[in-house]
Amino acid sequence: MTINLKGRSFLSLKDFSGEEIRYLLDLSKDLKAKRKRGEPGTSLRGKSILLLFEKTSSRTRCSFEVAAIEEGGYATYIAPGSSQFGKKESIADSAQIFARYYHGIEYRGYAQKVVEDLAKYSGIPVWNGLTDDEHPTQILADLLTIEENISKPLSEVKVVFCGDIRNNMSYSWMYGCAKLGMHYVAYGPPELAPSQPVLDQAREIAEGTGAVIEWGSDPSLLAGADVVYTDVWASMGEEDQIPERARLLKPYKVTEELMAATGNPDVVFLHCLPAFHDFDTALAAEQKELGHDIREVDDKVFKSKASKVFDEAENRLHTIKAILVATLGD
Ligand code: CP
Ligand code: NVA
Repeated sequence: MTINLKGRSFLSLKDFSGEEIRYLLDLSKDLKAKRKRGEPGTSLRGKSILLLFEKTSSRTRCSFEVAAIEEGGYATYIAPGSSQFGKKESIADSAQIFARYYHGIEYRGYAQKVVEDLAKYSGIPVWNGLTDDEHPTQILADLLTIEENISKPLSEVKVVFCGDIRNNMSYSWMYGCAKLGMHYVAYGPPELAPSQPVLDQAREIAEGTGAVIEWGSDPSLLAGADVVYTDVWASMGEEDQIPERARLLKPYKVTEELMAATGNPDVVFLHCLPAFHDFDTALAAEQKELGHDIREVDDKVFKSKASKVFDEAENRLHTIKAILVATLGD
């Protein structure tokens, strides 16, 4: 089957077939190898892209920017609060105007509807760099890291996501695993249960792929995990929830004991980053003063051999480059 993603937006993994996700992973591997050989890319020559951020970023912003430049393109970064977008100008108006300057738009912000409207009104490829509901580009990097570190097909891999199981990462994982026939477990407290419509959509996809999508609070769900994944307990925009989350999520912190409970000596630890694993960040230190321990992963696990988080962060670049090349490249 020939896969052609030219002109497509990348808003959610729900919009892509398993074969299309496979194609993007294979392209990521090719582009990673090409970069290691020092071969410059030309696929985005003459193409300008906009990086529109309403929330902060390190990895996503840098990956889009470097990927565009390494393929011969150009990128403009708009930092949160630094344009007319959404405040003095409607999404529909801004989208049509951006499309007069740019060939594609990366957007990071709050509601998923905003990224969808940007695609609808601009008519050019729009890439979701994180919303409250999804973080689909991150999943591609995670899948690539899994394939580099676990020698079995993705369809045999069990991923256990620990912590805030109703956040954007958990939901994008759910769709990604459903599409690829994987086993996904969301392990967290009932107070933060995944939304029923998201579960229903993921399970409907899973019916066609053989995926298993589960959630619960029982530690027995950890058994046989190939990957233990976690994310911050309060996502961007949810800072007021920190005290409650620190209380609810303490039992789901990724510790050496939790890793051992998988029963898999080769289990891999992944985290989208940024992570709280010590008190060396201003936010973790400030919350500690207030009596809240917000570390979602133990420092020992974060720095252990099982942890592939820095490879995972590097893979953001290669996978984002693959998305740009596939949807916009020559
Ligand atoms: N993982 C991730 O999206 O990181 P940034 O917030 O730094 O972009
Ligand atoms: N769930 C986190 C992911 C950060 C990459 C957030 O939305 O803040």
